[in-house]
This record gives sequence, structure tokens and C-alpha cells, in this order.
Amino acid sequence: MIIERPLTLIAELTYRCPLRCPYCSNPLNYSDSNYRQELATEYWLKAISQAASLGILQLGFTGGEPLLRQDLEIMVEAAAKTGIYTSLITAGTLLTPDRAAKLRECGLDHIQISIQDSQAAKSDYIAGIPSFEKKLAAARLVKRLGFPLTINVVLHRHNLDRTEEILELCKTLEADRVELANTQYYGWALSNRDSLLPTPEQLERAKQAVAIAKQQRYFPMGVVYVLPDYYEKYPKPCMGGWGQKTMVISPNGDVLPCQVATSIPELTFTNLRNGTLEWIWFESEAFNRFRGIDWMDEPCRSCSRQTIDFGGCRCQALLLTGSATATDPVCHLSPEHHLILKAQEQGQGKQEFSPTFTYRSAKE
Ligand code: SF4
Ligand code: FES
Repeated sequence: MIIERPLTLIAELTYRCPLRCPYCSNPLNYSDSNYRQELATEYWLKAISQAASLGILQLGFTGGEPLLRQDLEIMVEAAAKTGIYTSLITAGTLLTPDRAAKLRECGLDHIQISIQDSQAAKSDYIAGIPSFEKKLAAARLVKRLGFPLTINVVLHRHNLDRTEEILELCKTLEADRVELANTQYYGWALSNRDSLLPTPEQLERAKQAVAIAKQQRYFPMGVVYVLPDYYEKYPKPCMGGWGQKTMVISPNGDVLPCQVATSIPELTFTNLRNGTLEWIWFESEAFNRFRGIDWMDEPCRSCSRQTIDFGGCRCQALLLTGSATATDPVCHLSPEHHLILKAQEQGQGKQEFSPTFTYRSAKE
């Protein structure tokens, strides 16, 4: 099998974050000492240089909240010098005018800010702390400095009914691009699934609001609406296929095929301190384990879509069925598809706005 080079590097600089969103994709044990030992600047600089040699085209600095790393500017500057397209993916609350200007000087290409809802009280409720006004201020600052601005909103039962209002807000903020991503159920979102799952009617209304925004070209770089795969017939090719496009470096330096991969206990991940990105991409056990189609069992093994969706999401398969080699149960052909139907049913039973989230929080 020919292994193509990766296109994207996701640098999770830290799992620390002032927000407490109940759908966070960081691991449930993000506060373990293992993750508190964050990679030193020198290793990140090495990773950036290796990423450039490997042909990586875009680099997202994310977290947690990447602005909590005071060496962020050093990394941005190093990445910008290699010509890699750099994005800062932030909650926005810590973006001061000084830091934003410094990041501009260092060559940062693009900033993405997350917003939880179109109304302050509702947005703050989901974020778990007062943050809405700071986010709006950050978005305006980003535009003032001439950065392209993406606004990202994670959608779920508690904000889907305001999709139109959310799009209007993004328009007011002069977003260049909007990403409306329905919650994917891993990590904290899986713990809160019954409180977050939307109804099919909500999804339909949101789709219509998005269609209007697209038709009227609200945003110069477009609006992306990511459907929740629980309501689709086939799963998504998660990460564009395991080990096919993307590398993720977690705060402690472990290099992963996706942000949730540490949930698969059978895998061992190589740390940046012990291997180069090139070796990890081409040779490591973790990146090769689910690459391509040879690992598949039935029904994927004999399915005509096996090179379209690659059997869906390995992490979701593990989290829902207990086996990372199982067909993603989102697929209607999966023998475990009933697990998705049951989850939908349970979610529908809890339609009231209920303050029953398990907010992201450090383990005691
Ligand atoms: Fe995709 Fe497997 Fe379902 Fe076929 S059976 S559609 S390959 S997940
Ligand atoms: Fe890990 Fe989908 S989140 S493969």
C-alpha cells in the first residue's frame, strides 16, 4: 500500500482551558500528571521543522486553550518561516490586543474563535463560565488586525434552534468563514449524550437556515455544516481515513492519528521525544494499525464503500461496541447499529432544557 504524506498537523499545546464545555473532545482524564507534563518549546520547534520536511501544509495550534502557552508566538514564528499555513484555534477569552498584534507580527495566518450560542446567557451556560462578551471582543480584534476569521460553533439540542440567529451574529462579526459542527460523541460529549442529542426536526430547521446563508453568500469563504453522524446512514471517513491526512500531537508529546485515539487501549503511541514525525507517520504501529482496509472485518471487508468511509470512526467503534476493529455502529449495515437507535430514543426522552451536564473538569 502506498502511504501518502500527511497534510495537516494538529498541535494540541495544552489541555488546560478556562472554559468547561460539556462536549469537549479532550480526554476525560486530561488533568492526569501525564498530560500536565507539557512538551517543552524545543520539542515543539523540532516538530515544526520536521513537519515542514514531511510536506505538511497546514498547522493548527489548539488545545485546550493554546493562548495559555506563553511560548505560542515563538512556535508561530518558526512555523511561519517554513511557509506552513498556520491557524490559531482558540476560545478567544485570552486574546489580548498585545498578543494578537504580536501573533500578527510573527506571521500567524488565520484565527478561529469558538462561540457557544448567539445569546450571552445561553453561551455562558454552555461554556460553564462567563465568556461570551470576551469572545465577541476577540472576534472584532481579529478582524481589526486583518486576520481571516473563522467562527466555530458546536451544535446540539440547546442551541440548534438558534442556528439562524447564530449565523446572523457571525455575519455581524464579519466572519470570513463559519463552521457549524454538530457534536460528535466522544470524550465529554459521550458522557453528556442524553442531554445533547438533537431531534431530527431541529436538524432539519438548522439545515434550512444554513442553506439560506449559503445561497445569500453571507460569508466570503463559506459556511460548513457538519451533520451529526448519529443521524446519517453511513459514517464519515473520520480524519479523512486513519493515518491518511492528519497527525495530532498531544500536550505531552504523544503523536496520534486523531485527537481521541488514546481512548483505544490496545494502541501504544510514540512520543516526539523518542521518534521523528516521519518515522511515526510511516512506520509506527499506531499509525499503521487501522490504515487502509486490511484490518477490516465484515461487513466492511466486503463493502463497496470501504475506501470511501474506511469503516467510519475507530474511536467511536471502540467507545460504543468495545472493539476498535468493529464497523462504526453509525453505519446502518453494522450489526451494532441498534446502539445508535437506542441512544437516539433515550435522547428524545429528555427533551427539556435540563441543567444536567457533566461539565469538563479536572479529576479530583
Ligand atoms: Fe462503510 Fe463499513 Fe458501513 Fe460499508 S459496512 S458503509 S465500509 S462502515
Ligand atoms: Fe479517532 Fe474518529 S475520533 S478515529
